[in-house]
Amino acid sequence: MPVGTTSAPIACASGPLAALDADLLVVPWFEDEPTDAVPGVDAAVAGELARALSSKEFRAAPYDLFLTPVVDGGWRARRLGVIGGGRRADATPDRLRKLASAAGLAARRKRVGRAAFAIRGDGDLGNLAQAIAEGLTLAEFDGGTYKTGDPPPAPPPAWTIAVGWSNRQPDDRIVARVARGRVLGECSNLARGLANEPGNTLTPREFAARASALAADAGVRVDVLDEARITELGMGLLLGVARGSSEPPRLMVFHHEPPGAPQTPVLGLVGKGITFDTGGISIKPADGMERMKDDMAGGAAVACAMRAIALLNAPIRVVGVVPATENMPGGRAIKPGDILRSAAGKTVEVINTDAEGRLILGDGLWYARQLGATHLVDVATLTGACVVALGKITSGLFGTPSEWVDTVRRVADREGDRAWPMPVFEEYFDQMKSEIADFTNTGGRAAGSITAALFLKQFTGGLPWTHMDIAGTAWADEERPFMPKGATGVAVRTLAELAFEPLEVRS
Ligand code: BES
Ligand code: MN
Ligand code: ZN
Repeated sequence: MPVGTTSAPIACASGPLAALDADLLVVPWFEDEPTDAVPGVDAAVAGELARALSSKEFRAAPYDLFLTPVVDGGWRARRLGVIGGGRRADATPDRLRKLASAAGLAARRKRVGRAAFAIRGDGDLGNLAQAIAEGLTLAEFDGGTYKTGDPPPAPPPAWTIAVGWSNRQPDDRIVARVARGRVLGECSNLARGLANEPGNTLTPREFAARASALAADAGVRVDVLDEARITELGMGLLLGVARGSSEPPRLMVFHHEPPGAPQTPVLGLVGKGITFDTGGISIKPADGMERMKDDMAGGAAVACAMRAIALLNAPIRVVGVVPATENMPGGRAIKPGDILRSAAGKTVEVINTDAEGRLILGDGLWYARQLGATHLVDVATLTGACVVALGKITSGLFGTPSEWVDTVRRVADREGDRAWPMPVFEEYFDQMKSEIADFTNTGGRAAGSITAALFLKQFTGGLPWTHMDIAGTAWADEERPFMPKGATGVAVRTLAELAFEPLEVRS
């Protein structure tokens, strides 16, 4: 992993589109727009755009791409690519992020060397510029295979974002937003790389080594606690899950402490770091189990968000906590019916060893509180039930109070991490009654993602807390025009941008 290496910056250009020197100039195009919606473009391609629009070869449906040579000698770009943006009313930063990503992937397929992307869309130019930089950067991700015969992937093109063609000037603010998008996109890609990595290479120890290197490289203070320290802290839930594996667990702790930052608020980020989830003794079916190598996507999101938070100089204190272990069915593994004692002192009857994420997060949330967190957010590939409820497009959002959940939702929305609120009514917790412990770790099939959230809530000490269930959104099963199959990097940008929100401190 290229720790410390940052790819070349994305340039910003002002001035007329004709002056842009590039192998490919990409211009977003919306449905039902007149041919002169972007002045000069149709003439530069000798009317080819108007022809493609009227013949319906190009309809401007989302991610449609129409390429044609630039023939006007007064233009410096060699080729024009118009990319369909759908309805003009949908020209949001999120749509532009996806358009930029689709354009980036297409430019790589065509082995373009220098490319430019013209900003179009609604709202604040800075928001658009950042989203486009994020999208272009997301398209630079290389899945990194272990195929021995493959040639190395084509290097991504050098990008310029054209902001000035309609009298909009790339002032310092826009340049800064492009750089910000670059960092957030890169940190998302680092998280994708970690989540794609197989369980045999990314053991808890290796996960901790890589995650701490990429965070420390950005100036984050990192502690990696070993089994002895975890035992001293009394983390019986994390240790319980780890018992089935011959790989020892790790607890990653990240601190962002900007000089002069106020003592509070302290944002506490907690991520599930199961490097492989077999289910343990309550073993999962073989079909599709290979996917469970990404059960540490939440933990990767926290580590990579910490890197972004430091690189972007977030003004507040942030702590990150990532409990990491395998969930394996070894001879010393925990068994259904076993009782575990959490670091917070509460006892748990393990009904199903496959409900392991909530166990390790229980101890993780407790530890974030010990480190002074005033506002908690946890991210976890926690339940199949959340995938049933919301599918693969939307993460589940749980928590309390609703103002804090709304803040997370607003930021997530802005960053393209779609999330939707789910209830955490206390009555659901009745499903987790135990005869012999404080509560069980499962509540049956009904409302499975909600009972999981209520389990976590027992460890939040009444602090403002939001839980993101990313079981459906962490991994793309199908290729989309803007996203290849595999890890998506969900939640990295949301967690990082949260460190720039004004957090209300309750006394
Ligand atoms: N890591 C899984 C959840 C998961 C399922 C993530 C599918 C991504 C895709 C989690 O540890 C798990 O196994 N949850 C169980 C809980 C059940 C035993 C109460 C589940 O969802 O089946
Ligand atoms: Mn599980
Ligand atoms: Zn799991």
